[in-house]
Amino acid sequence: MQRMVIEGGYPLRGQVAVSGAKNAALPLMVAALLTDGPCELANVPALGDIRTIGGLLQQLGVRVEDLGGGKVRVNAARLSGYEAPYELVKTMRASVLVLGPLVARCGQARVSLPGGCAIGARPIDQHLAGLQALGAEIKLEHGYIHAWARRLRGADIRLRLPTVTGTENLMMAAALAAGRTRITPAAREPEVVCLAEVLNRMGARIRGAGSETIEIEGVAHLSPFQHTVIPDRIEAGTFAVAAAITAGEVTITHCRPDHLGAVIRKLRQAGVEVEAGPTTLAVRCKGPLRPVRVTTAPYPGFPTDMQAQLTVLMTQAEGISVIRETIFENRLMHVAELRRMGAHIAVRGQVATVYGGTPLSGAEVMATDLRASACLILAGLAAQGRTVVSRVYHLDRGYEAIEEKLALLGARIWRERA
Ligand code: EPZ
Repeated sequence: MQRMVIEGGYPLRGQVAVSGAKNAALPLMVAALLTDGPCELANVPALGDIRTIGGLLQQLGVRVEDLGGGKVRVNAARLSGYEAPYELVKTMRASVLVLGPLVARCGQARVSLPGGCAIGARPIDQHLAGLQALGAEIKLEHGYIHAWARRLRGADIRLRLPTVTGTENLMMAAALAAGRTRITPAAREPEVVCLAEVLNRMGARIRGAGSETIEIEGVAHLSPFQHTVIPDRIEAGTFAVAAAITAGEVTITHCRPDHLGAVIRKLRQAGVEVEAGPTTLAVRCKGPLRPVRVTTAPYPGFPTDMQAQLTVLMTQAEGISVIRETIFENRLMHVAELRRMGAHIAVRGQVATVYGGTPLSGAEVMATDLRASACLILAGLAAQGRTVVSRVYHLDRGYEAIEEKLALLGARIWRERA
């Protein structure tokens, strides 16, 4: 097991480049299943989850080549199977993204039900209900989903909530179905829009991505694609908070400020100076931080994936902040760890009340999920003394070379083998 060690108290200064978005690259790699030729992706982040989805695709007979420099070629010309096994799906729930494309391409799929997750139950009932609406037969047995259909046919799909990977799964399945499909309320995340753009470049006929209703006119065939993955908006947001919490001055490059509207507005409300260019964010924080109220929401609302990062920032604000998590039922686990560092936070249900103005002191803490581990790194950057974050494998799932990037900004941070 590895752990991250941070000597806190150093303001971050300089420039940092954001990597490609994990949550855009994952569905795009899976979209290659929908065609029988080589698809090329650029700006793919070197992360655990990307290697996991690559391994799963290879088990299906897909040729996955790392071309170096963030380029990946995925060729599903010859599939040898349609099963996503438990040992892979349990390490990454996004593996369920292969379900719709496999039924659309091969007429069947056998995908392990994803197990539990630290941040919530995260059922996939909407993925399954949508596939059934498209005409698939679904059987659940021995912990696996078995789905099959001679040919999917277009349908009106009403989701109970705008699920991100549910929208992506169903959009990919509907792209090859016979007839028209409507998905509403569809997720509006930039990663969904990016997937729709690529599917259309493959020959799909998708309208409305980014709005509440997506319409798909099914086609018989899709062609390979080349695409550069969009920047990771959550990584960019995390670095913006790192600059603010250390009272530093950082320019974040290769990012998409237009994907971060709610986050930028909230940081400005908190007294952080944020200057947005087309692909850069200049963030500085010289004055006192102000408390804020925030409720997480589906895009374009404040992202749940930035909730833990904002919570730790608000421990340094002068006043009381109220942070409400509405997407996942158990995504406040970082609070217990922050309390060990001196934070004063009360939790009732999914609402964290942060009594700010509490200096943080370094401590040994434990990461519980991807974004909670980022929050603990941020706490360590601001804390007096040494912080040791264990179980950093959570961090490595979603942040490429984070300690190198932070060290280049003047952070005292390094990785140790525990
Ligand atoms: C995606 O997860 C992201 N992952 C998550 O990022 C992100 O936190 C989440 O969207 C919300 O923005 C990827 O894109 C790979 P959902 P996803 O389906 O698609 C419930 C990270 O940190 N729900 O939109 O799994 C579900 O339980 C990860 O990078 C159902 O009830 O999220 C949750 O409460 C963490 N039934 C809510 O909807 C379903 O069939 C939102 O889930 C599907 C979802």
